[in-house]
Amino acid sequence: MDTLPAGLDNVYLVNSGSEAIEGAMKLAKRYTNRHNLISCTNAYHGSTQGALSIGGNEEFKRGYRPLLPGTSQIFYGSFSDLAKITEDTAAVVIETIQGEAGIRVACTTYFQALRTRCSEVGALLILDEIQAGFGRTGTFWAFEQFEIVPDILVCAKGMGGGMPIGAFIAKKEVMGVFKYNPLLGHITTFGGHPVSAAASLATLRVLQEENLIAQVAEKAKLFKSLLIHPQIKAIRNQGLMMALEFESFDVLKPIIDRAIQLGVITDWFLFCDDSMRIAPPLTITSNQIHEACALILQAIDGT
Ligand SMILES: Cc1ncc(COP(=O)(O)O)c(C=O)c1O
Repeated sequence: MDTLPAGLDNVYLVNSGSEAIEGAMKLAKRYTNRHNLISCTNAYHGSTQGALSIGGNEEFKRGYRPLLPGTSQIFYGSFSDLAKITEDTAAVVIETIQGEAGIRVACTTYFQALRTRCSEVGALLILDEIQAGFGRTGTFWAFEQFEIVPDILVCAKGMGGGMPIGAFIAKKEVMGVFKYNPLLGHITTFGGHPVSAAASLATLRVLQEENLIAQVAEKAKLFKSLLIHPQIKAIRNQGLMMALEFESFDVLKPIIDRAIQLGVITDWFLFCDDSMRIAPPLTITSNQIHEACALILQAIDGT
């Protein structure tokens, strides 16, 4: 399966999403010889110190300061904020689809303007597809839907089919800076562990052989057609990355508790506590979608 855009073929394997983000941040600083990193409000890139530093929610950062200097946030989707990306910016780190913000998707013209702005000022564009990658949104990478290519691509989660693995991916010219001054600019003991790598390869095979990515849109449509209830205020989704919005956390929390008791594993989003996460494995069948939705509706009704 051809999964990477031409040239974006140097893959550095690590053990998790946060660790992949850390590697990408280091790589951008080293390649550009700049240290300022821009991310988005309500972004989640992981819980390690570097990833937390570019996180977009103060509540989660407050207790851990001082964090990395030179970080700032722009509003996801704001065209006017693109002017804050300058010749001093090493990289912009952005989730293609914002996950923990409650499944938020900026428009194609925004991503294209962001790509143009980064190229104009020599800042690297780092796309975090840790949640959105590996087919979840209906294309192998979510960025394919916006017709842009990042300078550094970051993935994990679905990549391992349940095993711990992550990666940051760049052109050879960019990744090559880790090889000198000093040699071994980024190292990890277990990164690319053969068992995790085998699981990742098996995941790719299953995605391909079972044609799972092509079924994402249809499965998402089925979820949306079944999840109709007066208490569900809205459904936001990009493929099988879905959020059901309720009146408030106080309304949602007991529903989540009941859903879990009934056997549906779900939760709310870190920065959007009025919405329930729907993120099934891509292998879910239509019978299982019917069953899960019936249980979610039962949990909402409190029966
Ligand atoms: C968009 C995004 N980036 C980074 C991470 C961090 O990945 P990990 O939990 O594997 O460290 C997550 C995890 O939820 C995520 O959703």
